[in-house]
Amino acid sequence: MEAVELRVGFVGAGRMAGGLARGLLRAGKVPASNVLASAPSDKNLDAWQESGCRTTHCNLEVLQESTLVFLATKPHILPGVLQEIRPAVGPHHIIVSLAAGVTLQTLQRAGAMVFARGSSAGDGEAALLKSLLSSCGLCEEVPESYINIHTGLSGSGVAYVYLFAEALAEGAVKMGMPGGLASRIAAQTLLGAAKIMLETGEHPAKLRGDVCTPGGTTIHALHQLEKGALRATVMNAVEAATNRARDMAED
Ligand SMILES: NC(=O)c1ccc[n+]([C@@H]2O[C@H](COP(=O)([O-])OP(=O)(O)OC[C@H]3O[C@@H](n4cnc5c(N)ncnc54)[C@H](OP(=O)(O)O)[C@@H]3O)[C@@H](O)[C@H]2O)c1
Repeated sequence: MEAVELRVGFVGAGRMAGGLARGLLRAGKVPASNVLASAPSDKNLDAWQESGCRTTHCNLEVLQESTLVFLATKPHILPGVLQEIRPAVGPHHIIVSLAAGVTLQTLQRAGAMVFARGSSAGDGEAALLKSLLSSCGLCEEVPESYINIHTGLSGSGVAYVYLFAEALAEGAVKMGMPGGLASRIAAQTLLGAAKIMLETGEHPAKLRGDVCTPGGTTIHALHQLEKGALRATVMNAVEAATNRARDMAED
């Protein structure tokens, strides 16, 4: 199945759906005229129409007109939506739930997504989804049990990274650098480090060791971070977010 011929539907047209659709359109994976989004109100739908997508207030219409359907309502709405659309779901449909996953910022910018397939989703469907979502960033298929961990690591993780970037910049401000410049340098430092991690595939501990001159500045700084238990704190943060995502999925 050619991606360009795909008809992609979104049930729920809010921030997550909008971010994903923009990624797909920007990458030319699907023409806007093949995208149909539904929501009860026009609040979000106007923006979809402005970008050339079609819209409706009828969720069933999305199922009738689309092969690949993203369910992008808030989790507590989803059970009712599933009841509503069930009669229209056929074997040709690929249904993807966004109810657990990643933040919009992750989708739009630092795209790192995972998906797990249901029992009737085959290799073809998984490959198609991976090819589409890869246009929005890194995309990996994982066992379902990893989905909540991914939320703790990446979905919420962008916020930990922003906090770290803020702290880096504040340190430089404390030492006399203007805030704007410090923020830009902090962001560039994170970007560079992330690129090297991805490009080399090396363990971060090895990369960290490589930049530590014996007796130098970096090892002195790392000693302070270890005294502040940065590693244990971040591990606790990932654990807390993962557990919270699990609790929310059970509600
Ligand atoms: N785990 C994570 O890290 C994470 C992070 C972010 C988001 N998410 C998930 O992504 C999903 C969407 O989040 P969001 O931030 O995009 O929410 P959002 O911006 O509030 O959008 C929700 C959309 O659903 C629509 N909607 C409400 N009731 C509906 C119904 N009965 N049928 C069809 N559409 C309906 C809303 O309509 P109106 O336009 O009329 O209001 C809105 O367009 C959620 O399940 C959320 O949990 C997960």
